[in-house]
Amino acid sequence: MEAKDQIKLFTPGSVANISCGFDVLGFCLDPIGDIMKISKTSKPGVHIGQISGEPLPTDPKKNIATIAAEALLEEVNSPFGFSIDIDKRIKPGSGIGSSAASAAGAVFGINKLLGSPYSNKELIRFAMAGEAVASGAAHADNLAPVLLGGFTLVRCNETLDVIKLPNPKELVATIIHPQIELKTLHSRAILKTTVPLKNAIQQWGNLGAFVSALYTEDYDLLSRSMQDHVIEPYRSMLIPKFKDLRNAALQAGALGSGISGSGPSIFALSKGLETAKAVGMAMEKVYTDLDLAHQIHYSVINTEGIKILH
Ligand code: HSE
Repeated sequence: MEAKDQIKLFTPGSVANISCGFDVLGFCLDPIGDIMKISKTSKPGVHIGQISGEPLPTDPKKNIATIAAEALLEEVNSPFGFSIDIDKRIKPGSGIGSSAASAAGAVFGINKLLGSPYSNKELIRFAMAGEAVASGAAHADNLAPVLLGGFTLVRCNETLDVIKLPNPKELVATIIHPQIELKTLHSRAILKTTVPLKNAIQQWGNLGAFVSALYTEDYDLLSRSMQDHVIEPYRSMLIPKFKDLRNAALQAGALGSGISGSGPSIFALSKGLETAKAVGMAMEKVYTDLDLAHQIHYSVINTEGIKILH
């Protein structure tokens, strides 16, 4: 098979919500991600080839990558089909954008093999079909940073009015992942559908300030803004020792810390790698004392998003 008939990708994880922007804010991770290989086939349609790493459904109607790919192929007339191999390194149900990585990777790879009829921003719409099945709601806060890189804001999830935000250079993320599975579908089901006005006021104050802090590289303002008055009070109950972890992270020097996406992973943002590592050690101690298996990751902000591997 010729090189142009195949594409290999690094499709990264992401942190959604960032405490103050439920369903609208996200940033892209760097070393954490899946490897996907997409190949043209003479057989029409899209199907799953090899799966490695974490187990995934091979039925195209149940696999997030093929669901997203089908949404794209419904709009473009492709003279060939596609086979998708996934080395799934982001554990599903970890809170670091496993389904978004699969959905975004599939549409990005197929779009490239078709000669790029769509921009990465336009691809979000197709990838949403996969995300909607994974979480029971169509939200682009993981997909946008994966496809555009860096920090992103989704002004509207219906019209997909998405804005790429600037990236303060010194930010480093620490992610701790307790080895329990929390499905987005379930952690969304416990949320209230109304928000008291007082909490809403605090939240939109924080969200506006967070975005401003990214533009002005105001780390103190960023720190004050990373608070969640709407979602965390409910979801934190699903995460072992959440309050202790967050306090440990802040005491070790993190600018802010909260639930990564729908959990159970917890993220912290720090200024510089040294502080991010100290934060990681403090967070790990909480889970080591509890004898709870966990993984720890460090990441700069990935400003590029999905990468083509050669
Ligand atoms: N905004 C979504 C949620 C992200 O918190 O449910 C899921 O990864």
